[in-house]
Amino acid sequence: MKVAVFSARSYDRRFLDEANRATPTTPSTEWVYFDVALDADTAALAQGCQAVCVFVNDRLDAAALHALARLGVGAILLRCAGFNNVDLTVALELGMFVARVPSYSPEAVAEHTLAMVMTLNRQTHRAFNRVRDGNFMLEGLLGRTLHGKTVGIVGTGKIGLAAARIFHGMGCTVLGCDPYPSPLFEPLGDMAPLEELLARSDIVTLHCPLTEASRHMIDAGALARMKPGAMLVNTSRGALVDTTAVIKALKSRHLGHLAIDVYEQEGPLFFQDRSGQIIDDDVFQRLMTFPNVLVTGHQGFFTVEALQEISAATLGNLRHFIERTPCPNRVDAH
Ligand code: NAI
Repeated sequence: MKVAVFSARSYDRRFLDEANRATPTTPSTEWVYFDVALDADTAALAQGCQAVCVFVNDRLDAAALHALARLGVGAILLRCAGFNNVDLTVALELGMFVARVPSYSPEAVAEHTLAMVMTLNRQTHRAFNRVRDGNFMLEGLLGRTLHGKTVGIVGTGKIGLAAARIFHGMGCTVLGCDPYPSPLFEPLGDMAPLEELLARSDIVTLHCPLTEASRHMIDAGALARMKPGAMLVNTSRGALVDTTAVIKALKSRHLGHLAIDVYEQEGPLFFQDRSGQIIDDDVFQRLMTFPNVLVTGHQGFFTVEALQEISAATLGNLRHFIERTPCPNRVDAH
């Protein structure tokens, strides 16, 4: 069984190889690694492979899927939870097996959310540079005590719940909003409609999937409803937020802080070394000019534990494809 692994970095190789050694498949699996992202132009690299293994910024649109099908690729193994980058209708029409890793250390993403909130709030990134430069002044480093503040969690699934536990533990008032509320959230906070959550929260953090319904859920109207000076955190998917509207809200000083681990147009940027190159994305570059904006490059999941879980689950999904057994992680039409 040959599997073309796209967008493969050193850590993907390390953890997929380790999983393969720990629990080999029958017949044995050969991972064929490619640094490039999968799209209609690069699909030909999967020649001779029966499956492809992809990540968040691989583009499996109709053209890429048809190209893969022509090569005899029958399975798409996502190394992530979200599958908004796959044209599922076409994949299913082509009879492809599509499986994802629905959960990998939700705590990893929730902890990264906390890291971003604390960094922006207490300016530790600026303090780090300042102290190294021999400057021990506190001007400009003033933060807020989070204890007693209100944190609104949009999407109280696995990651949202982990974030709710963290903020509840810090003595924050936690609000949640979710069309399918979880009973596990009840001891941590109160559910509220999105409008109310936005109006009451000092920090709004997004943990819901990107769908046609949730695209740009944080638009100009939603930003206007937020408290003046509030913080918006997005570690979920970039297109949940209308970036142009966010820039306007930052320029008007209405939005106090923005922390994002994901960005609407992250595809050409994230997971690559673009230092020394000119970045053409003016919207992204405008974001970079604000002192109250913190951007990380989609690293919320990036812990040893999560990468071990992703690799083990991916291999498990492949095993179901090989053995034609029911796969709990298979993605069907929604
Ligand atoms: P999950 O499926 O456990 O929870 C998502 C929750 O969002 C569900 O309870 C669902 O009912 C709710 N939801 C759906 N539409 C909503 C809406 N319009 N408003 C409010 N809630 C809504 O998913 P999980 O594991 O918690 O992941 C959440 C998201 O985090 C994923 O969709 C993915 O985009 C993102 N993610 C980001 C990572 C990173 O490295 N930054 C890593 C892993 C996931």
